[in-house]
Order: sequence, then C-alpha cells, then structure tokens
Amino acid sequence: MSGDLSPIDTAKFVAAKRAVEYVEDGMRVGLGTGSTAAWMVRCLAERMREEGLRIRGVPTSTRTAELARKLGIQVISLDEAKWLDLTIDGADEFDPNLNLIKGGGGALLQEKIVATASDQMIVITDASKRVEALGNFPLPVEVIPFGWQTTKALVEETLAGLDVLGDKAALRLNGDAPYVTDEGNHILDLHLHRIGNPRQTALVLNQIPGVVENGLFIDICDVVVIGYGDGRVEVTDINEGTREQSQIELAESTNLFSDLGD
Ligand code: A5P
Repeated sequence: MSGDLSPIDTAKFVAAKRAVEYVEDGMRVGLGTGSTAAWMVRCLAERMREEGLRIRGVPTSTRTAELARKLGIQVISLDEAKWLDLTIDGADEFDPNLNLIKGGGGALLQEKIVATASDQMIVITDASKRVEALGNFPLPVEVIPFGWQTTKALVEETLAGLDVLGDKAALRLNGDAPYVTDEGNHILDLHLHRIGNPRQTALVLNQIPGVVENGLFIDICDVVVIGYGDGRVEVTDINEGTREQSQIELAESTNLFSDLGD
C-alpha cells in the first residue's frame, strides 16, 4: 500500500511514524499543522487502534482539529490541558541548532503557543527543510488586520537594521483576498534570503506594534526526525547531542492511507 506513496510522502510518513514512538499512554500531545503533521495524526490514530494507546490532543489549527476528531483522537483545548508532554509538528526550515522557520501553512501562532507549552517539541520533516542558515523560506509574520499596511512599512523599515539579506514583506493572499488565520489575522511573508541572527530578528520583529508573532522558533525544538523516501529515518536530539538512524518497515502500515486529503 505504501508503494502508492511518492518518495516525498514516504519521507513525511516515516518521519511521523518514528516520532509517534515518543508518545506514551496518557500523554497530552500537541498536534501540529501541515502535510507532515497530518501523517503524524494518522500514525497516532493507528497506535490508538492497534495498541489501545490513550492520548488527548491539542490541535494547532482548525484543520488539524478536524482530522484528529475524524480519526477518533480526543481533542481538548490548551486551556483544558494547561501543559503538554509533547508536541509533534512539521517545519518549513531547520538549522543545525534546531531553530526553525514555521508558518508556511499559516498556523504559526497556535503552533508556537502550543510548542512552547510542551515539555518537548519534536519536528518531523524531510531532508529538503535542512539549511545551514535560516531565511531562504520566506519568514511568516502574523499581523492584526488593523493598519496592516502601516505595520508592513514598519516591518520593512526595521529589517534594514537587521542582519538579513532582504527587506521585502508581502501580504499573503488567498485568491484575491488577504489570507486570514484561525485568529482572524493576516500574514506578511518576509523575503530575507538569509537571517544572520535569528534570535535578534525574532525579538525585534515582535516589538513592532501590529505584529502578533513571527515564525522563528528559537530554542523551542528538542528533536528533529528526518524521513527519507526509502524508509530511513534520522533522529537528532539537540539536548542529548545524539544522532541515530533506523529504518521504518513500510509494509506494516496498511490502514493509514484511507483518509488522505490534507
Ligand atoms: C504550518 O503553519 C507550518 O508551520 C507547517 O508546520 C509547515 O509549513 C510544514 O508544513 P508541511 O509539513 O506541509 O511541509
């Protein structure tokens, strides 16, 4: 069955499959957003079916909440959970320090709140997201709709003083209209090409009035699981300073591919 998957989907699937091995019975788990995170939700549901694993999930978007509920995962709010054992999510880029750019799927605000409220954050990804320096992927910045054009101008002005290679911000669109996040905000995508000092950039951007949050995740991610199209996975744990490789048996997961759609 997994032979029907493209190499990129296989990579995402095996990363997700390996990451859900970290989930233990009774855990409160943050459920990320995006195509890789959707594989993780399916893999969690598979463990619930096959092993009787019981978890409660805090989704980071309405679309993840819908998928989790559809697959029988108990969904609770962050306020109900208060704190999480683990969050598993995708990323748009990660660097050697496991700092991230996230928000390509528009869910960075809830993703950052949920990941920060977790004992551990695991990122699941394919190898294409690994970079030496963050910034080739446009950095999403969530802004409130009120005065967004003024906020955009302030953001561009601020970028001129930062260690980045670009200073253009583009309003994200959904068709002809501004993209609207789950919180009712807009997103500016910053074309920075290279972010020399991600920590400073994250702090400075969040000082601008109208900016709600930016997609730089600094010192939040603990583990990155990289999947490959041939079923190999590589796990890097930044706290333990370890890197391990293993192989996921693709033929074992035959129930997972019935609800594809994210
Ligand atoms: C969602 O807002 C993002 O942060 C996603 O985690 C990120 O865009 C990765 O998505 P994919 O797994 O679809 O590449």
